[in-house]
Amino acid sequence: MKDILTAPFVKEMCDTTANMYRLGWDERNGGNISYMLDEEEVAQYLDINHVLREIPTGFKADALIGRIFIVTGTGKYFKNVKTDPENNLGIIRIAEDGTTAQLLWGYKDGGKFTSELPAHLMSHMARLSVDKDNRVVIHSHPTNTLAMNYVHELDEKKFTHTLWEMCTECIVVFPDGVGILPWMLCGTNEIGEATAEKMKEFRLVIWAMHGIYGAGKTLDETFGLIETVEKAAQIYMLTAGLERKNTIKDEDMIKLAEFFKVDYRKDFLNI
Ligand code: 13P
Ligand code: ZN
Repeated sequence: MKDILTAPFVKEMCDTTANMYRLGWDERNGGNISYMLDEEEVAQYLDINHVLREIPTGFKADALIGRIFIVTGTGKYFKNVKTDPENNLGIIRIAEDGTTAQLLWGYKDGGKFTSELPAHLMSHMARLSVDKDNRVVIHSHPTNTLAMNYVHELDEKKFTHTLWEMCTECIVVFPDGVGILPWMLCGTNEIGEATAEKMKEFRLVIWAMHGIYGAGKTLDETFGLIETVEKAAQIYMLTAGLERKNTIKDEDMIKLAEFFKVDYRKDFLNI
């Protein structure tokens, strides 16, 4: 059996959380990540028949029965993951009943998965229904994206359009746009269901005055989606209130989308 601390998926989780902390997106215990793993790969590092603990999830995830995830722990700080992965991360499998998480590794101090597990697992189910290769869901509190929530109308078309105007490559990176939920109580099944509903249409969902969710095939891809929104939001915040003399026009966005052959939300343009 190989040492789990050398597993690429543990290393990737350590690197991603450290990076997000470094960028200032994940203060204190802010943010959480879930990453679906390949059973055969996990079996190289763990006895997958040895369940350490069973933890109820509080909701049913039928479509994920038997699936294994590495998930950040609730109340755990992203800044600490790299130095103590076994305390701050856990590997769980969704049991036959669809409502129990079987802990296979981690949460060593008796902890458990993120309080946002409903939004994560429901988003995994929603994304998998439209993209069988989706593996990752990331939640974060990126500074400028959050700032923009206070000064920009929270309308999906207008918000996406503004982001697309801020950096040339935005429409290429997230041609499907950004979904938005109004302020809701976090950590609940209700916000999980609402997030998953948006995730059928968008890989990025803003939780108003809270943060953002991203979904993708890899940790890098999902991180990159949020990073690109955050960069655009930063340009917006740096220029908000100033007289705008130039912008990326809708006709330029169409040229980009056509040149890079992306299927974009044509209804989010103004022409
Ligand atoms: P957890 O510590 O439970 O992951 O919660 C952090 C967070 O960002 C809540 O939205
Ligand atoms: Zn949060």
